[in-house]
Amino acid sequence: MTAPPWWASAVVYQIYPRSFCDGDGDGVGDLSGIRSRLDHLVRLGVDAVWLSPFYRSPMKDFGYDISDHCDVDPVFGTLADFDALVADCHARGLRVLVDLVPNHTSDLHPWFQASRSSRYHPMRDWYWWRDGGPDGGPPNNWVAAFSPDPAWTFDAATGQWYLHQFLPEQPDLNWANPEVEAAMHDVVRFWLDRGVDGFRIDVVHGIGKDPQLPDDPPEVAGLPHVPLNDRPETHVHLRRLRALLDSYPGDRMMLGEVFLLDTAKVAAYYGDGDELHLSFNFPPLFAPWKASAWRRQIETTAAELDPVGAWPTWVLSNHDTVRHRSRYGSEARARAAALLLLGLRGTPVLYAGEELGLLDAEVPAERVVDPGGRDGCRAPIPWDPTHGHGWPTDPWLPFPPEADTHNVADEWADPRSTLDLYRRSLVARRASAALRTGAQRLLEVPAGVVGWVRTAGADRRVVLVNFSDEVVDLEGTEALAATAGWQVEVASDRQGEGSRFTGQLGPDQAVWLRPG
Ligand code: GLC
Repeated sequence: MTAPPWWASAVVYQIYPRSFCDGDGDGVGDLSGIRSRLDHLVRLGVDAVWLSPFYRSPMKDFGYDISDHCDVDPVFGTLADFDALVADCHARGLRVLVDLVPNHTSDLHPWFQASRSSRYHPMRDWYWWRDGGPDGGPPNNWVAAFSPDPAWTFDAATGQWYLHQFLPEQPDLNWANPEVEAAMHDVVRFWLDRGVDGFRIDVVHGIGKDPQLPDDPPEVAGLPHVPLNDRPETHVHLRRLRALLDSYPGDRMMLGEVFLLDTAKVAAYYGDGDELHLSFNFPPLFAPWKASAWRRQIETTAAELDPVGAWPTWVLSNHDTVRHRSRYGSEARARAAALLLLGLRGTPVLYAGEELGLLDAEVPAERVVDPGGRDGCRAPIPWDPTHGHGWPTDPWLPFPPEADTHNVADEWADPRSTLDLYRRSLVARRASAALRTGAQRLLEVPAGVVGWVRTAGADRRVVLVNFSDEVVDLEGTEALAATAGWQVEVASDRQGEGSRFTGQLGPDQAVWLRPG
């Protein structure tokens, strides 16, 4: 048996650089700030960091609109800061993933500036330029993300429209042009040569397009086009990208953002083991705190991914979505969700601040900055209980609620904190092959509960999550028979931790059990 690759057993930690830690006192987080806080990540016990974009950008989409893929935006620091960060991460055994944004650039990127300069410019075809429709409107009925508006903007200077699945300031690149693909491969080489361990790839399912650009069908017309874009062309590009990564030593990997809300479709992006190493699977991210919903997500994920040898990923929060503590409605649930996330078969991706049990910030109308309405989950990380919470000046967004108690310093000092729950869980996970990479089988449990067993050789663990707000007794169930005499290794509310399992689960309680 060959050992599983590092990314299968890794716990990935997403850092949104603007919001993590401000090293230079301008109110915006930066690379030197991240570098100064790596000890927090080591103590927490994660294996890899994914850095959301820190490249040169006009910041219309806070860095997902890139004007130079091969430089650091001054607000985040310099390439030297980046190199130092990678060196420090590697010295601590942390892998580094950077965000690759291949679907679009900023409208201020020199490529787009050249492309828009004339219909006859050799780079015109690097983007999607078309004449208007018969009525003089946009070339088709596609709708942009974050708005009810067309995914097309008219450019008066050359009398044509350009495609943008996101903001008008984010024109879509034309990957059907081999020069675009080659340029993007150069970007990938640039970061691989600097030592990154891989990429999180933004809206990767968006890059291939139907060259006819047909209208979206009437039943989905008016919805954003991007979650509908699912084309064979993309798989050709992914296989070539994979070959490029594979030509480098050291298990470089790619984790794709395949924002298709259907796990069967997501499975296709792993190819035949020759496309993405990992893909996000978003349906569970949008599942409510309900046993039946989660059981279905777990079953569907296994049913779609296992047969094709695709390794799952699990995520509860990110920079685009209301944090799961806010979504699920209580801290007890958020804590139980930590054991759910970290106990499932697959690679978990944490979002900075979830280990603190943070809520979304309430952002007053005058401080709203994101066109997609995602400011709440991007609130700055509170590092300590002081007025500035470790930020030298007032940060770009307000702090989340409860920052006087839900901050890094206070939570490290409190063995009952959510942070300590994550730490204990990650210690237990690291010590158990069953939890890291073991097989998974759902157990028969009472309504309101989901339970499963993880197995790797002789190593076994059972995960039980009570999604109900009542005490549940497992008497007479398969789950209890399978765990007779077992110990509670980790409990989301610490109740019973370290003792023999009683067979009862508290309201919104999750436990990890180990043979006694
Ligand atoms: C992805 C990113 C999101 C960004 C969008 C456009 O969905 O996660 O933050 O706005 O792509 O790049």
